[in-house]
Amino acid sequence: KAAGAGLPVRFEVCDATAIPVPPVPYDSVFDSGLLHSLDRRGAAVRDYLALLPRLTAPGGAVFVLAVSPEAGEGWGLDAGTLRAAFPEPDWTHVTVEPVDVLARVGRADLHLAANLLRATRAPSGL
Ligand SMILES: C[S@@+](CC[C@H](N)C(=O)[O-])C[C@H]1O[C@@H](n2cnc3c(N)ncnc32)[C@H](O)[C@@H]1O
Repeated sequence: KAAGAGLPVRFEVCDATAIPVPPVPYDSVFDSGLLHSLDRRGAAVRDYLALLPRLTAPGGAVFVLAVSPEAGEGWGLDAGTLRAAFPEPDWTHVTVEPVDVLARVGRADLHLAANLLRATRAPSGL
C-alpha cells in the first residue's frame, strides 16, 4: 500500500533476531507481534532484546505490540514482563498500556487483549 501511494519504502526480509546494525540507526522501531511470537516459541528473545538498543538511535522510539495473557490464549506477555525487557540504562520513558488488537483469521475477526509498550532509547552516555 505504501509503495503504491508513492512513499519511499524499502522492504527487506531477514531473521529479525539478527538484523544487520545499520551505519545510522533507526529513529523508530515497531514490533507488531514479534516479541510475543519469539517468547511463545522460547526462541532468541535475548538476542532480539540485545539487538534493539543497537538498532535504535539515541532519542528514538521502540513500540512493541504484544498479545496479553489476559487474551486467554494460554500465552502472551504481561505488562511487567514487557517493562522488564526495556531496562535502564539503555531505555527511558517506558510505558505500557492495555490495548485491544483486532486479528483477522480467515474471514473471522478476533479481538485479543494486548499491551502496547513505548520506550525511548536513552541518549548515549546515560
Ligand atoms: C503474530 S505474527 C505478526 C505478524 C504481523 N507483524 C502483524 O502484526 O500482523 C508474528 C510474525 O513474526 C514472524 N517471525 C517469527 N520469528 C521471526 C524471526 N526470527 N524473524 C522474522 N520474523 C519472524 C512470523 O513469521 C509471523 O509472521
